[in-house]
Amino acid sequence: MNTNKNSVCKLKQLLLIIVLVFSNITINATIIPIHTKDFSLLLQTDNENRLILSYFGDRLANNDELKYVSNMFDFTDENIGICNSAYTPSGTWNLSEPALKVIHSDGNNSLELKYDSHTINPLTNGAKQYTIVLKDPVYPVEVKLFYKVFEAENLIEQWTEISHNEDGILRMQKYASANLYFTDKDPYLKSFHNQWAMEMQANSQRLTRGIKTLDSKMGSRNVMLQSQSFIVSFGHEAKENTGKVMLAQLAWSGNFKIDFEVDSYDNLRLIAGINPHASEYYLKPKEVFETPALIYALSNNGTGEASRNMHNWAREHRVLDGQGERLTLLNNWEATYFDFNEKKITKLFKDAQEIGVDLFLLDDGWFGNKYPRNNDDAGLGDWTENKKKLPHGIGYLIKEAHKKDIKFGIWIEPEMVNPESELYENHPDWVIKQSQRPEIYQRDQLVLDLTNPEVQDFVYGVVDRLFTDNPELAFIKWDCNSIIHNAHSAYLAKENTPQSHLYIDYTKGLYKVLERLRAKYPKVPMMLCAGGGGRADYNFLQYFTEFWVSDNTDPLERVFQQWNYSYFYPSIVTDNHVTNWGNQSLKYKVDVASMGKLGFDIVASELSKDELTFCTEAVKNYGSFKEIIWHGHQYRLQNPYDYDVASLLYTSKEKDRVIMFSYLVNTRVLYHTKTEPIKLNGLDANKQYRVNEINLFPNTLSQIKNEQTYSGDFLMKVGLNIPVDEDNPSVVLELTEVK
Ligand code: DGJ
Repeated sequence: MNTNKNSVCKLKQLLLIIVLVFSNITINATIIPIHTKDFSLLLQTDNENRLILSYFGDRLANNDELKYVSNMFDFTDENIGICNSAYTPSGTWNLSEPALKVIHSDGNNSLELKYDSHTINPLTNGAKQYTIVLKDPVYPVEVKLFYKVFEAENLIEQWTEISHNEDGILRMQKYASANLYFTDKDPYLKSFHNQWAMEMQANSQRLTRGIKTLDSKMGSRNVMLQSQSFIVSFGHEAKENTGKVMLAQLAWSGNFKIDFEVDSYDNLRLIAGINPHASEYYLKPKEVFETPALIYALSNNGTGEASRNMHNWAREHRVLDGQGERLTLLNNWEATYFDFNEKKITKLFKDAQEIGVDLFLLDDGWFGNKYPRNNDDAGLGDWTENKKKLPHGIGYLIKEAHKKDIKFGIWIEPEMVNPESELYENHPDWVIKQSQRPEIYQRDQLVLDLTNPEVQDFVYGVVDRLFTDNPELAFIKWDCNSIIHNAHSAYLAKENTPQSHLYIDYTKGLYKVLERLRAKYPKVPMMLCAGGGGRADYNFLQYFTEFWVSDNTDPLERVFQQWNYSYFYPSIVTDNHVTNWGNQSLKYKVDVASMGKLGFDIVASELSKDELTFCTEAVKNYGSFKEIIWHGHQYRLQNPYDYDVASLLYTSKEKDRVIMFSYLVNTRVLYHTKTEPIKLNGLDANKQYRVNEINLFPNTLSQIKNEQTYSGDFLMKVGLNIPVDEDNPSVVLELTEVK
């Protein structure tokens, strides 16, 4: 090193010492950098040895500079304390929304958390797990913060464990999963409201000072009104291909609370976890309380990239059999409702065979004898075949289905009970209710008390018995049509456990049942359903292979719903059926249902000859491209909110085959839809593609000239005119590489 360089170095060191002396950052700060491919999340101790989130932004290239980061910011508000605490306690210095709030066994309500230690462990699935231990210096309370990092996907699963060693119970009044802090300004939130048949209605808003909360207090059918998935962007509403976004979900199947607070620095604090409403949790000494995870995917290139990363992570690391196959099916719900018998059902097997699907799914109404399930007001809970409707039982139906070369699946709703049922007569204490008050029903039913191990055994037994009696049963649809009213458990009362455990222990009880079932039946496909899409999350999807998006199968509505679900879920997990809802053509319905897992809920014998031919061909086509829909990469091209034509495509992993769907979503008369080309995305610019229209209705000609080939470069920069109009409201294109 020459003398010149030497003196520059010395000067730099001197400057650094001056900066450190005059800043309030300790030289001995512990710094824990969590890097993904494009982002860094910097956790570090401050002067008081508390843990702060000093940076959450683009990936920092030089680890030796990390120590300067916190010099640049100081988010200590003299009124409320440290805004960027990595896990904000309550009852001491903090006066803002806490992540953890407790009452100690001696009645004291103060909590302080200081950094103790941390470990970093590579996991076998390629992820890296960071565990950071925080301790209260006065009370023996310990908090572990977990960050499971999927570097390539820019995705983090974050959760917390809380434990203590006090002499008695620690009462937890709030216990968040994650506490984040963004210094990007002008945050926007895109959230999704639900209602029966109106799931995933998007709502975007600019977040201003104060707290905005997304929450659920519904219990069992937890996302009936509000989804726990959301998108945060900065400076503008989330865009598809540009800008910083975070796609996130609290993976919990019970009540949740997600707070977005724009603080006095105009920064965004995010605190997400189980909803503590009516849920004070009494933690015994040495018991470990594990919160669910907040799962978030980050991108600087908009929601498209973040979704694809979340889809990849979900299929590889989360969803049961995410890399596997799914079964196309014919369901009888809309074809028959409760009004069926053996003859009607076996006739539908023929339909299933003709359409060419893999499985027949028998829906609600097959059980109950003393109280036959002929309507939704009786029989729920009595899981034996109704002798009148099905005199030869399920076994016979399975055999008949096999004769037609199709598999057989069945609907259940094992967590619920009708007051008019033998189950209720025999076990009134198994029901969640306030026995001194009038019962409150949703769809004439009540919720079973899954905090009770006997009830867990019962629910497990419903499914286990079905499989034991019918080993060839190939599919389960698990429904849940009620929220929890009158939240009171006779079991918890008997056990002297506080009623405030009910919502959490219900959800944990359900997970226990599912855990047991999956230990015995690891792969049987199961569809999650809750009066439509009243339940869906990444905790459930460890046990379920797919979920029912909505009872609303009007295909126009479905374009919007499926679009919004696709932000968070890969298409392999979303079940889309063709039904009589909506007055669009059968082709439109099938084309819309094909962007996901295709199914039908129609009477094929009522179709015209051309319609049946179309269906059969479309199912064959689906069979040829389903691999791309299920395991390929999805690119959303034109959204249904801003354009007359919604358009999206899926590419194979090798980018040699593409399936593109375009749907007219504006029912007003339009004259210009074909004049503007739609730009494709996700192709290989250097590959040459032949474009071919598929799913054509019999006797119609495509306006696409399939002898023409185009380069990926052309298709992504200029695009294609898609021949969508009122006469032809949906178009499915297949692009294949020409070698
Ligand atoms: C609600 C579900 O969403 C429907 O698909 C159907 O299974 C009914 N329940 C049956 O009761």
